[in-house]
Amino acid sequence: MKLSTSNGAEGRAPRVFVHTFGCQMNVDDSRRMVQLLTGLPENGRDGASGRAEVFETAASPAEADLILINTCSVRERPREKVRHVLGRYSALREHNPGLVIGVTGCVAAQDGEALFARAPQPDFVLGPDWLTELPALVAEARRNRAAGVESRAALAAERPVLEHEFVEAHPIAEESVTAMVTVMKGCDSFCSYCIVPYVRGREVSKPCAQVLREVERLVAAGVREVTLLGQNVNRYGLDLRARRGGAGPSRLEADEPLFPELLARVAALPGLARLRFTTSHPRDLSPALIDCFGALPELCEYLHLPVQAGADSLLARMGRGYTRATYLERVAALRRRCPEIHLSADVIVGFPGETEREFRETLTLVEEVGFETLFSFKYSPRPGTAAFRLADDVPESLKAERLAELQALQERRTSQALAAQVGRDVEVLVEGPSRTARRTGGGQLFGRTRGNHVVNFDLPESAEGVPAGALTGRLATVRLERALKHSLYGRVSAYEEPE
Ligand code: 5AD
Ligand code: SF4
Repeated sequence: MKLSTSNGAEGRAPRVFVHTFGCQMNVDDSRRMVQLLTGLPENGRDGASGRAEVFETAASPAEADLILINTCSVRERPREKVRHVLGRYSALREHNPGLVIGVTGCVAAQDGEALFARAPQPDFVLGPDWLTELPALVAEARRNRAAGVESRAALAAERPVLEHEFVEAHPIAEESVTAMVTVMKGCDSFCSYCIVPYVRGREVSKPCAQVLREVERLVAAGVREVTLLGQNVNRYGLDLRARRGGAGPSRLEADEPLFPELLARVAALPGLARLRFTTSHPRDLSPALIDCFGALPELCEYLHLPVQAGADSLLARMGRGYTRATYLERVAALRRRCPEIHLSADVIVGFPGETEREFRETLTLVEEVGFETLFSFKYSPRPGTAAFRLADDVPESLKAERLAELQALQERRTSQALAAQVGRDVEVLVEGPSRTARRTGGGQLFGRTRGNHVVNFDLPESAEGVPAGALTGRLATVRLERALKHSLYGRVSAYEEPE
């Protein structure tokens, strides 16, 4: 095993490895952190000015001089994993004493300095509001390690709203065909079970001009599909308007758009083939937003619309702000506007006091809507939330039973939904070699339909001589031949000609 010096071994650039837990917001934050450290131009104070070192990405933790653990605290399980991976990565210091380890993300925001109280300790803690400060914090931690001085920097508390700074997004290698663009941070909804408003703070929207600039830059680098991200994007822009006017919306001009208008402006950017967004709170799904489906050709026929529960009593205890009937009405309106739309949702089982009758209502709602995909979770009490004060009284075994019943129902529905696609010609955006091809070196490709189904496919015999890689980033028409458990298989019948 080679020893790394604190500058990276043998005079090479230092290397960073990021381990990401949690949601797409965290995946995007990880990308922006890599971007800041790898020193692309215009990255802000330290990345651009040359005050901080320029990193390369490491292929594995063992090759890294800096490891970032980007954490999630939405349930207890991902939280527990933090200590585990911190221990595993700290052990690498035996061979690499200069290794710097930082804890970032939602556990960083929640625990802050407390992460230094127990071994193994990280070198620094950085909450999601402070990404722009990462290069400076890393530089300080690396200097301390090199000098053998203990480092304990924490930037974890919520940053004042007016001082919030978004990282200006530049494309990195991972964003070759599809990319995410964060359009707002934080959440003001305070659902009773949810930690997010406490760890991600208040809602702050990224100015529209910045969103447009970032999408244009991604498209110029070859990205064809963009997903606009926020904890509840339906509330995009409301904070900017309120802050600027200081009075009611009537005094405010529409140059800072609300979300439907932002979608329209992004969709109109030349070269963008597809647009998606996530996440949408059903309470804030306005008629204007529903109308975007079908009206904007780039907007894919897919929506993640977390319902969480099917009984009004449970929805009220969760503080969701809508009823079963309202949810179903909005789904019906979406389907009237866009009959092809595919829906997915999140559901929690075993919320405090959940009765058998309430749980049955969740099952019937899931059945009635017919989601293409469902993400379901056992309730996990989160300290500091309103529901934490309620007794977690659904026994673990019953939570597991309910989860299994819900998942079995959904498995049947997912298989039906996939089977219904077989025989169709669908538009697929080619993302690259399929997982099988990456393992075996074959020519199979993969991509997603507009409805968000994963499709693995082969080229037709007539395409012999066309290198499979030439199709990456192109729209192809795929004839679907088979449904697998969670994906589809087909053959290309037509594709955008490689330039
Ligand atoms: N327990 C279980 N699941 C939760 N989620 C959020 N908070 C909790 C919790 N305390 C789920 C919700 C949310 C998804 C991201 O995680 O379903 O939509
Ligand atoms: Fe994402 Fe929520 Fe997990 Fe934070 S706690 S990473 S916002 S899912």
